[in-house]
Amino acid sequence: MTQETLSGPNIRNRYFDSLCADKGLLWMGQNTNHIPAHPAVEEAMVASIRAGEFNAYAPPLGFESLRRAIVDDLDVPGEAIVTEGGVNALAMVVRARCRPGTTFVTTDPTWKWPGLMAAQMGAEVIELPIWDPQTRFRLTPAQLAASVDSRTALIYIVDPNNPLGVAYTRNEIAEFCEIARGSGALLIHDCTYRDFASDHTPALRIDPENAVCSTSFSKWLGLAGMRIGALVVPPKLVEEFAPLSTSILGASVVAQRGAEAGLKVKSEWMREVRRINLANQERIRSAVEATPGLSLVVWPSQANFLCIDTTASGVRPDALVEAYRQHSIMIRQGTYHTKRFGDRFIKVSTTVPEEWGQRFTDLLPEAMEAARSLDNVAAQF
Ligand SMILES: Cc1ncc(COP(=O)(O)O)c(C=O)c1O
Repeated sequence: MTQETLSGPNIRNRYFDSLCADKGLLWMGQNTNHIPAHPAVEEAMVASIRAGEFNAYAPPLGFESLRRAIVDDLDVPGEAIVTEGGVNALAMVVRARCRPGTTFVTTDPTWKWPGLMAAQMGAEVIELPIWDPQTRFRLTPAQLAASVDSRTALIYIVDPNNPLGVAYTRNEIAEFCEIARGSGALLIHDCTYRDFASDHTPALRIDPENAVCSTSFSKWLGLAGMRIGALVVPPKLVEEFAPLSTSILGASVVAQRGAEAGLKVKSEWMREVRRINLANQERIRSAVEATPGLSLVVWPSQANFLCIDTTASGVRPDALVEAYRQHSIMIRQGTYHTKRFGDRFIKVSTTVPEEWGQRFTDLLPEAMEAARSLDNVAAQF
């Protein structure tokens, strides 16, 4: 098939396939973690493969030991449903609650996929703009309260927010919980990046009956390609949600073994991951500050990425992404996240080896210059 005859999904697939085919690519666009794995995690997965555990399906809700470990780690009253990535945890809730006549309320920017799924289920998606220095790029309880009503099925809060890197306080989460409860909506607290935040309170700890938390092993542990995450829910909701999981035959056995090993070494592992993350963020911050027209949207970031405002530079985010791609570095264009604000920023992941962070900053002046003359950039996803 030529490029012209390819369908949208195939064009998107070729885009990622060509990135994967570049063996020297520096993955700095998807908030994935490329710090070499903890030996205990690698060993657990290799041992599982060697034992041929992959010949059988896992239990549908996950190995009991992993389910317990996830709940203990989150430290909430709840039960875990292990899924193939956090994305499927979120899909399960959307399938359960969204219908024509309901609304799905989230922020703009946010992580877009749950909203797209909600629209597919017939819900009206309400995106509340939070790109505002006056509110420090965060959703305010008043803004949320003004946008929910008896039709609201789900409130979806990504905390820390992807792509902004802001995190909410315990009090803010408590207010979001109260607003959700008052309108009869369920609060989804997407906790994918919580391990990078200096302070984080899962909503289930505040409201053990009317909130759910989605978690992921992709970002803190580096298992993105293994597809493993979880939905943690009040026990009474397991019966409602579990039948709607598309992972009815369980999540990857090998990934679950790696995830459980990761939870056992988490404090040691995260100490090192946080150190590297911060070092990369400091390095990129200095380079951004030295570049006319670039600025960090939020500092300090509470996640493993930085959101960089390009507007004052006159360089288009997609052109800068393409300039870096030509040097085998993947960073993310803002339009991946948001139509409304997408032409204002790029996003750079920082859980990568420090040499990668250095390479990104070394190339910044050259990439900015090259981006100025890049027109007709091919589609990005
Ligand atoms: C906010 C948010 N939630 C969920 C996910 C999905 O994570 P997973 O790889 O566990 O499916 C991502 C991935 O980028 C994300 O940014």
